[in-house]
Amino acid sequence: MERKRKILVTSALPYANGDIHLGHLVEYLQTDFWVRFQKMRGHECRYMCADDTHGTPVMISARNQGITPEELIDRFHKRHLTDFTDFKIRFDNYYTTNSPENRELSEAIYEKMVERGHIEERAIHQLYCNHDRMFLPDRFVKGTCPSCGSPDQYGDSCDSCSATYNPSELKEPRCVICGNTPVERESMHVFFKLNDFRPFLKEWVSGHTSKEIANKLDEWLKEDLRDWDISRDAPYFGFQIPGMKDKYFYVWLDAPVGYISSTKNWCDRNGRDYREFWQEGNAELYHFIGKDIVYFHTLFWPAMLSLAGYKTPDQVFVHGFLTVNGEKMSKSKGTFIKARTYLDHLDPIYLRYYYACKLGSSVEDVDLSMEDFVNRVNAELIGKITNLASRSIQMLAKIGLTTGELSGDGRALVKRIRERAGKIAELYEGRNFNRAMMEIRALSEEANKYVDDNEPWKVIGQDREKARGILTAVINAFRLLAIYLKPVLPVYAEKVEELLNETPFTWESAQGVLEHHEVRPYTHLAQRIPKEAIDAIIKSSMETETPAKEKQKEKQMEEQTSGVAEIEYDDFAKVDLRVARIIAAEDIEGADKLLKLRISLGTEERTIFAGIKKQYKPEELAGRHIIVVANLKPRKMKFGVSEGMLLAATTGDGGVFLLGPDSGAQAGNKVS
Ligand code: 2FM
Ligand code: ZN
Repeated sequence: MERKRKILVTSALPYANGDIHLGHLVEYLQTDFWVRFQKMRGHECRYMCADDTHGTPVMISARNQGITPEELIDRFHKRHLTDFTDFKIRFDNYYTTNSPENRELSEAIYEKMVERGHIEERAIHQLYCNHDRMFLPDRFVKGTCPSCGSPDQYGDSCDSCSATYNPSELKEPRCVICGNTPVERESMHVFFKLNDFRPFLKEWVSGHTSKEIANKLDEWLKEDLRDWDISRDAPYFGFQIPGMKDKYFYVWLDAPVGYISSTKNWCDRNGRDYREFWQEGNAELYHFIGKDIVYFHTLFWPAMLSLAGYKTPDQVFVHGFLTVNGEKMSKSKGTFIKARTYLDHLDPIYLRYYYACKLGSSVEDVDLSMEDFVNRVNAELIGKITNLASRSIQMLAKIGLTTGELSGDGRALVKRIRERAGKIAELYEGRNFNRAMMEIRALSEEANKYVDDNEPWKVIGQDREKARGILTAVINAFRLLAIYLKPVLPVYAEKVEELLNETPFTWESAQGVLEHHEVRPYTHLAQRIPKEAIDAIIKSSMETETPAKEKQKEKQMEEQTSGVAEIEYDDFAKVDLRVARIIAAEDIEGADKLLKLRISLGTEERTIFAGIKKQYKPEELAGRHIIVVANLKPRKMKFGVSEGMLLAATTGDGGVFLLGPDSGAQAGNKVS
């Protein structure tokens, strides 16, 4: 018997400002397979995760939706957890980084950094938006690439020529939030001197990640490591740095600490001590991550852990990205598929099976080819594996639902399948899920051959007990395959347990055999994937870009009422019409008809969305005077909150003409 291990496992924490999609699931599903496998082996294996809640994108996204960041992260926490649960991903704890535990543990690690002299403060120059009154992270600045001249590139790198640069090097930079030109400003920042840990990391990386990744890291470690800027200026949604005014921890400082705080939260609720997992030598710690966040997990994170007296990860398991039909997921092609969209049309069992067939321990990308997905699941999981159960149990039902005794070659078949348990366990342990599935598939082929060679459908008419012996072998063969598949297909395995009248399978169950055992009448374990479901998923993924509801709202905004009722003067007097000056107008990506306008009402500025995109170019609008309804209740729209409405004449066939005052009128003048 293997010693009982104590294992802590994590997946990267998803950001709390977007839905889970099939790309994310490459990670959560493989982690879930591995954790379920460890649990089936009888180890104490705990799977910890949480939402990654802090940072500028969360703050801005909440602001655009007219809600607080807390409301936003609360909303996504629920959505994420429901998606994961419905995909049968079973965490021991799914917490949040915006928690008291996480604040306390992050501050404690920071204090250790200070105490031990790994912190330095110095001024840096950054782009600042005077309009939004904030420093702009790299991704909140766009402009022309300084290297190749491509327009509309982010502040850190160019999509077109791959050059990397500082945002201040961009030509014609603009703030992504408001479109204005940012300025350079100085601010004090707090740096973690990562290079102090270079000798430790040089030693550490080779033993704790794959060769592929270690080689890459060795390259980085050849040179001095740059200091890491762990602070951000207000306004920022995150934890304030103790003892500093208006400075916050950069989200990547407190995000991985979320692994510890999720464990702590679980331990506190279960009468355990989180240090059992994070400080004691006999516990094992594994992180599953994508290849884009290797730097954080193999350099900053082990350095932070070691300086704060925690154990460092035993292994960081790195996987590649998802491609769909051989390409990057694409919204316009309908291959950017949300977990929920998939679940609206298909059972999670198929994707779980398919990902297991494709996932190995390397960092290579994983392709979800829709055609291969349907063919493979239908041919293998249904055609080869499930059919073993449906045919044999339905045949057995004709002669009484009790298994008999294994005959010579039947016993040999079951023995051969049982003997692969060790090999398959080894493959699971090494995260070679694809090879484990290959083994299982090959065994199912052997079992099918046994059925074809022994023709139980013929024997049953001549010798019932002989037929029972053959069917007993097939049922036992199938049972073993269901045990081997349980980490990947837990619900399927549960149905098999019920069908075969058994207690929950563990890995040990493979040692048993069902002879003279009553089973239940066959009920469907899994159906074939209908091809139409795939088309429907692709179709609705295309639609989610501009959801039908939003389209309708846009339309409503533009439609003028035709049948008009008479109103009292008092009704009219309620409408506060004002002259406004357009400060700036911008295009909204993904909106068919709307432009976003920043307007001045003299003493205040507002943002309004107007359905005039077809008729007006944004650059023609700045400086124009228009008439707006200034006291319209702010309306929450897909792209932000509209704080008013402009007036325009419409022709009924799509023509729109903005109304404006004669020259001389000033922004803010009342219109009556
Ligand atoms: O890249 C991401 O999606 C991050 N939210 C992952 C954080 S993992 C951990 F360090 F918190
Ligand atoms: Zn701005």
